[in-house]
Amino acid sequence: MSKIVFFFFFLIPHTLHHPNPTKASPPVTTAAPTKPAGLEGIIAGDSAICDVDQSSLIYRGYEIADLAANATFEEVAFLLLVGHKPTPEELAAFKHELIHERAIPDHAHDVIKRCALGAGMHPMDVLRTGVSYLAQFDEQCQDNAPEAELTKAKRLLAKIPTIIGHMQNVIDGRDFIHPDSELGHAANLLYMMTGAKPSEQEARIMDVSLILYAEHDFNASTFTTRVIAGTLSDMHGAVTGGIAALKGPLHGGANEMAMEFLREIGELSNVEAFMEKSFAEKRKIMGFGHRVYKNGDHRAGILHKLGRAYADTKGGDALKWFEIGEKVQSIMESQKSIKPNVDFPCGMTYYAMGIPVPQYTPIFVASRITGWCAHIMEQHKNNRLIRPLSNYTGPSLTKWNG
Ligand code: CMC
Repeated sequence: MSKIVFFFFFLIPHTLHHPNPTKASPPVTTAAPTKPAGLEGIIAGDSAICDVDQSSLIYRGYEIADLAANATFEEVAFLLLVGHKPTPEELAAFKHELIHERAIPDHAHDVIKRCALGAGMHPMDVLRTGVSYLAQFDEQCQDNAPEAELTKAKRLLAKIPTIIGHMQNVIDGRDFIHPDSELGHAANLLYMMTGAKPSEQEARIMDVSLILYAEHDFNASTFTTRVIAGTLSDMHGAVTGGIAALKGPLHGGANEMAMEFLREIGELSNVEAFMEKSFAEKRKIMGFGHRVYKNGDHRAGILHKLGRAYADTKGGDALKWFEIGEKVQSIMESQKSIKPNVDFPCGMTYYAMGIPVPQYTPIFVASRITGWCAHIMEQHKNNRLIRPLSNYTGPSLTKWNG
């Protein structure tokens, strides 16, 4: 797949734009070298995990629509972490391992309780602290060898839904709901948050949303994990950084903000006036636009279709938010030519399923942990420190004493 490479950005000699006080009068350049803001279009390294472009999204050779229609999240997790489609025996062993790794230590329960009740803590902060805290119970925490990292990745994948479930239990003021070994990853995640066993349709929608969220090449949070791993730091540390990066509303936090925007609009009859006002205020509409996809996000239509079918069966409030969302989408497309990304249908779908809005981004983590860990392992396998340059724009060289 052809991508634009701005090699010249990396080839700018350091001395051209960074004054060195130990050398006499370095040449001062006034014109800054051309560079893409936000590293747009830059290829920052090789990866065999995922290919993202205008026409497709591919996980290790498999197209996303194919995976969403025909695979389960556990199969996709194995594919990303191990590198190939699992055999039935490999899948059975993988699922067994995940189920047996779901519980978290008692000490971690207390930490989650305190954090979840902390004033001003967002569930993403609780999850970030929980993952960081788990490191001290993992004997292999400091071991960056491939086998140890795969084991740690599976533990994190298994335990993150438990942290999410337990913190929601604390928020709701109920006793911890413990993992159910009869349920798959997606169904168990829903069960632990609410105590209610999801229907087959609900479990499948969650499963597909986890497949769609699992991996997306060098997005901001994954790149963060690779930068941390590139210093030869450990997996728990890299994932903790990834969670912090994903939280932001320009990245994973957009799924929560997209739903909050619809709730702000409130009624179908308010949409047009609300959008006009938003455009006049130059407000960013969360859940729309994408750094890479300029003709639409391949994942958005898949999730929208599933979420809408579910809302149709539920009717009432669930359907109302889809109707408002679809009108917002039509105005964004016709007036701004900006299409929704996966976070837009995610907001409406999770809302229709009764999931508390502040848990939408933590659920994203329950999926993206697979992509992050695959990238951390890939980085460690063939490591080189990630250390780019900056284009200096500060004051020119001045003597400290005059
Ligand atoms: N609402 C209104 N205008 C927008 C939006 C939006 N959501 N997205 C882009 N634009 C406009 C933007 O104002 C700018 O216009 P102008 O050139 O007149 O200043 C133009 O489109 C280019 O936008 P940009 O922000 O420079 O583009 P980018 O490639 O830096 O940003 C983005 C990509 C995802 C950060 C941006 O589209 C955005 O902020 N979207 C809302 C947040 C969001 O939904 N994030 C989720 C991203 S995808 C999944 C994930 O990672 O979770």
